[in-house]
Amino acid sequence: MRSLQLFLFVIALFSCSSNNEAITYKDPTQPIDKRVDDLISRMTLEEKIYQLNQWTVGINTNANNISDQMKKVDPKIGSLINFSDDPAFRNEVQKKAIEESRLGIPILMGFDVIHGFRTVYPIALGQACSWNPELVKKASQVAAKESRMSGVDWTFSPMIDVARDARWGRISEGYGEDPYANAVFGVATVEGYQGSDLNNDYTVAACLKHYVGYGESEGGRDYHYTEVSDQTLWDTYLPPYEACIKAGAATVMSAFNDISGVPATSNYYTLTEILKEKWGHEGFVLSDWNAVQQLINQGAAKDRKQAAELAFNAGVEMCMVDNCYFDYLAELVDEGKVSMDLIDSSVARILRLKFQLGLFEKPYTDVISPEKRYLQPESKKIAEQLAEESIVLLKNQEKILPLKGKNIALIGPMAEEQETLLGAWSYHGKLEHVVSIADGLKDELAGKATITIAKGCDFDGDDISGFAKAKSVARAADVVVLCLGEKRYWSGEDGNRHEIEYPAIQEELVKEVAKTGKPIVLLLSSGRTMALKNVEPLADAMVMVWQPGIMAGKAIAGVLSGRVNPSGKLPVTFPYATGQIPLYYNMRQAARLDQGVYEHLTKKPLYWFGHGLSYTSFKYGDVKLSAEKITKTEKLLAEVIVENTGDVEGQESVLWFISDPYATITRPMKELKFFEKKTIVPGEKVKYTFEIDPMEDLSYPNRKGERILESGEFFVLVGNQKVKFELID
Ligand code: GLC
Repeated sequence: MRSLQLFLFVIALFSCSSNNEAITYKDPTQPIDKRVDDLISRMTLEEKIYQLNQWTVGINTNANNISDQMKKVDPKIGSLINFSDDPAFRNEVQKKAIEESRLGIPILMGFDVIHGFRTVYPIALGQACSWNPELVKKASQVAAKESRMSGVDWTFSPMIDVARDARWGRISEGYGEDPYANAVFGVATVEGYQGSDLNNDYTVAACLKHYVGYGESEGGRDYHYTEVSDQTLWDTYLPPYEACIKAGAATVMSAFNDISGVPATSNYYTLTEILKEKWGHEGFVLSDWNAVQQLINQGAAKDRKQAAELAFNAGVEMCMVDNCYFDYLAELVDEGKVSMDLIDSSVARILRLKFQLGLFEKPYTDVISPEKRYLQPESKKIAEQLAEESIVLLKNQEKILPLKGKNIALIGPMAEEQETLLGAWSYHGKLEHVVSIADGLKDELAGKATITIAKGCDFDGDDISGFAKAKSVARAADVVVLCLGEKRYWSGEDGNRHEIEYPAIQEELVKEVAKTGKPIVLLLSSGRTMALKNVEPLADAMVMVWQPGIMAGKAIAGVLSGRVNPSGKLPVTFPYATGQIPLYYNMRQAARLDQGVYEHLTKKPLYWFGHGLSYTSFKYGDVKLSAEKITKTEKLLAEVIVENTGDVEGQESVLWFISDPYATITRPMKELKFFEKKTIVPGEKVKYTFEIDPMEDLSYPNRKGERILESGEFFVLVGNQKVKFELID
C-alpha cells in the first residue's frame, strides 16, 4: 500500500514542480538528511519556532494538567498531544497543516500510551514481575499498532525511572528499583513500539521518560527536589536511558525534578553532554508539561523568557504546552542569547523524526473501524498472559491455594471493582472491557463452587456498616478471598501517599473477618509496593495482583483456581512499614552489620526484591563456574541446574547477581546483572547459564561515567547461593 502511494507521489511530484526539478524535501527518494537540510533552508524563523512547540488537541482528560482545548489549530504547529482515538479527527487536524501552511509540514501527534491503548495491559510495575521482556515487547507492539491506527504517531513511553520510595505514586509507571531491570524492560518496550521501521502503519516513536533522577523525589512527593550525586546518576538512574538510547529510542522527555540544584529541564550536563555528546542521541528532547515555565518555581529562572533561554540552550528541543519557546525564542535569537545554529539543529532533529515516520508521504491515517483496530483476539491473549505473569504469590501457608472448597466468600472493595484494575495512564481503556475479579471467578468456577460477595467497606473512610454482612458471608464459606485495593489514581502522577499501608478501614475489615476463623486469601491490588505488617499475620495466603488491565479478573481467577501456576517475582522490595523507606535490595552495606536497627522493628523487609512463590517447587543445584579466576579479557560461565520437584508445570525466573565486596568506589551489596525465565515440567532438570563479561558485568561507573574495572574478589549470587571467583590483571 505504502509503496504504491510512494510511487504515485513521486510521479505527481515531478509533474507538478515548475522547472521539472523536484523539491528536495518533498522527494522521498532523497536521503532524509538532505530533505531536512533543504526544508530548513526554506523555513522562516517563525516557522522554525512553531516546530519547537507542542500544544494539545481533543478533550484533555489528564486531571494533573489542566489546559484549554485549542479552539483553532494553527497549521504551522510542530506537535500536538492528541487526546482523540479517532483517526478521522487526526486527519481533519492534519489536513490544516498540509493544505493551509506554506510548507505543508505535517504535525507530529503524541500521546501517553503507557500500558496499552484500548487493549490495556498491566501497569509497568506489574509487567516487571513477569521477568518476560519478550512478552512485554509483544504487548508494546499491540499498543503501537492500536495507537498508530488511531492517529497517534508517538507515545510518551516507556517510563524507565528507577524508583525506591513507594510513597511516590509514579513507582507504578516504571519497572521497579533495579537499573538493569528498567533497562531490559525499557529496551523491550522501545523495540515493541518502534519495530525495525517507523515508516509504517503499525509502529510509533518511543519517548524515554522522565530524564533523569525523577524517582528520587524527596519524601516521595512528586515534582520535588531530588538529591542525586553524579555517582548515583551514573550508578542508578542513567543506565536504563543509556541502554534504551543504544536500542534506538527516538525521543526523550525531560523530567520535572531539580537535580541537586540544576533542574532536569535546564541541565546541560545531562541533556547535552551526556545524552547528545557522550551517547550520540540523534533524536530530540521534549519537555514535560509546563516544565520549562516551572523553572521559575524552582528558582532557576527569573521569568518565562529566561526559562526559555535556559531550557533551550541546555538541550530541550521541544516545549510542551507552556509557550515559553513560542513567546520568547525569536527575541532571544535577536538578542544573541540563542544561536540560529541551535535553532536549526533542534528543528532538524524534529523534522528528521517526521521524515522517519513517513509523515510527509503519508500524513493521514487510514480510517478503519474500531472493531478492526482494537481488542483483537491475539491482543487480548497477550494482555491475559501478561496479567497472569504479573501476579506474585507472596504467601501460601498450608497450600491453601489453589482454592478448594465449595463455598467461597469474595469480600472487599476490589471484589467487583473495574476501573481501578485499569490503573493510571490508561485513558483509552474502557470499563466495559474490564473483567472484574468477581466476574472472572464466577466464570472460572462455574459449576464447581458458589461465590458469595460482600463489599465490606469502601476503599477508605470510616463506614463499617458493611462489616457485619461481610462476617456472616465469611462464616458461611469454606474460604475467604479478601480483595484489598488502592483506587486508580492513588498512584500515578501526583499520587503521593504519606503511608503505604492499606487504609485503616480495609485493615480493620481484615481483622474483623479474621475473627470468624475462616482461612483468608488476601488479594492485593495497588499501583505501588504496599506495607503489609498489619495484615500479613492474618492471611493464610497473599497474592499481589497490582492493576492488571482489562483481563484482570480472568488472569486472577486462573491463578486462584490453579489453572495458572503463578510465576511472578517482585521487582521491588516490600518493607514491613512505611517507616522503613528507603529499603531496597541493592543498598550499600552499613558500617555496622547488626546495628542501625529501629527500636521496635526489624531493618529487614517483609519480602525482598525477587520474592515470588509457585504452586510447584524448584530445587537449585550447586552453581558451577567455568573457572575460579579469570583475566579482564576472559569470560566466566556460571551455570545452575534447576529441577521441578513438584507435581505441576511452572515457569522459573532465575535472577543472577554480582557482588563486588571491595572497590575504590563502594558498590551495592549485590547488583542484578542477568535473568532468564524458563518453563520446567515436573521432574525435569533445566540448565540456566550466565556468561560473565568483566567489562559488562564487573565494571562500574565513576562520577564521570567512566567505566572502572578493578581486579580482586567477586561473588556470583543465584537463588540462595553465593560463589566466589577472582578477577586478575
Ligand atoms: C505529565 C507527565 C508525563 C506525561 C506528560 C503529557 O505531566 O509527567 O509523564 O507524558 O505530562 O501528558
